[in-house]
Amino acid sequence: MDISILGSGYVGLVTGTCLAQLGNCVICADSDNKKIAALKKGIIPIYEPGLEELISNNLEGKRLIFTSNIKDAVRNSEVIFIAVGTPSLDNGEADLTGIENVARNIAINMAGYRLIVEKSTVPVETGEWVKQTISMYIKKKIKFDVASNPEFLREGSAISDFMHPDRIVLGVESKKARDILVNLYKPLNAPLVITNIKSAELIKHASNAFLATKISFINAISRICDKVGADVQEVAEGMGLDKRIGRPFLNAGLGYGGSCFPKDLDAFISISSKLGYDFELLKSVKDINEEQKTLLLQKIKDTLWVIKDKAIGVLGLSFKPNTDDIRNAPGFDIIKALQTEGAKIRVYDPKAMKKAKDFLKGIAFCKDAYTAAKGCDCLLVVTEWDEFKELDFVKIKKLLKRPLIIDGRNIYAKEAMQKMGFTYLSIGRAPVNG
Ligand code: UDX
Repeated sequence: MDISILGSGYVGLVTGTCLAQLGNCVICADSDNKKIAALKKGIIPIYEPGLEELISNNLEGKRLIFTSNIKDAVRNSEVIFIAVGTPSLDNGEADLTGIENVARNIAINMAGYRLIVEKSTVPVETGEWVKQTISMYIKKKIKFDVASNPEFLREGSAISDFMHPDRIVLGVESKKARDILVNLYKPLNAPLVITNIKSAELIKHASNAFLATKISFINAISRICDKVGADVQEVAEGMGLDKRIGRPFLNAGLGYGGSCFPKDLDAFISISSKLGYDFELLKSVKDINEEQKTLLLQKIKDTLWVIKDKAIGVLGLSFKPNTDDIRNAPGFDIIKALQTEGAKIRVYDPKAMKKAKDFLKGIAFCKDAYTAAKGCDCLLVVTEWDEFKELDFVKIKKLLKRPLIIDGRNIYAKEAMQKMGFTYLSIGRAPVNG
């Protein structure tokens, strides 16, 4: 099929490239000329495992085109995905300016039937607004359909999440729209949820909100574990074996960050209150998540006593492993709070340092974990990169001023840390002294 993707960010780029990989002709459009110029040369602005190679394959195969000309995109494709950003406004509402602009531009440039598909995460009833906007600007008698097809891509595993989805959600309101999308996704051979637009929009917000709820739930349990000396990882193990609960997303730690959960929760709370429902539960999920950072800071203070002039090594900057994305990364708040107290910070992250340099001043960006640990009073883990799990701890111990590790993501075994002579603190697990 001839497809265009309007908005070439994380979602648009992965969606467009994967649809091209499935054999479609895809035009990825974006208003950012610099980004498009780089993409035409196969240079991508994000780190997403496997994406660069997939883009160059499909550029070579002439199935993928990048343009900043939305008119060409609309004229040359029957299916148009809206994949522009929907960032949070100050009051937490989703900013739908991009969605409206793109809907209007599609309408103005349409010369025949088009299926317009919401790929961006949008509050429920946005589809109604998109329909109204297109109807207002479209030339007479041209037919169109709107559909909702939310994505469930995780950064760091986005391509495999696209190619092997748990389900594909299609919010459609005509047989034509349904047939087009069923046909488009046939090669993935995945379970289909075919529903109306509003339900599809809600499936996305409700899914992210539930995942964030699961994380805050286990983080709340970690507080009780801390008080009684229970082990939150073993509690999560015991809970997760119940098929109705499931082990994933029960990892206690510094809490969730990223560009989705915080934004989607705010948008969901805001649209719910507009609709007359006060989503108290999600407000608590947010509060618990915020408090995880305060609690870790307290643990650091309780252990180091005076923070001023202490040297602290920080491992990790990205909001989670296998990405260079630092948006709402919990580690940033921790670093800034420690700096305010006068700590000297040394930091290492495998991928996110380049992006972080614009936001963190007065800290030492180090070339590896050992350099970050050198001469520090304590080593702090804030992102659970695999490479931090395989460090040479004999070497780490020699480099540290004192053998103290505070682990915000519970990536080390307590017994192993104790045996190697470390004082080891983590989240929801009893501290050990080496
Ligand atoms: C999420 C959703 O998973 C995805 O379906 C949606 O499309 C976009 O948002 P993403 O934000 O990329 O994906 O990352 P995810 O792997 O879901 O982790 C989100 C955050 O939760 C990260 O900060 C991670 O560190 C944290 N997390 C995750 C926990 O704190 N504990 C867990 O057990 C799992």
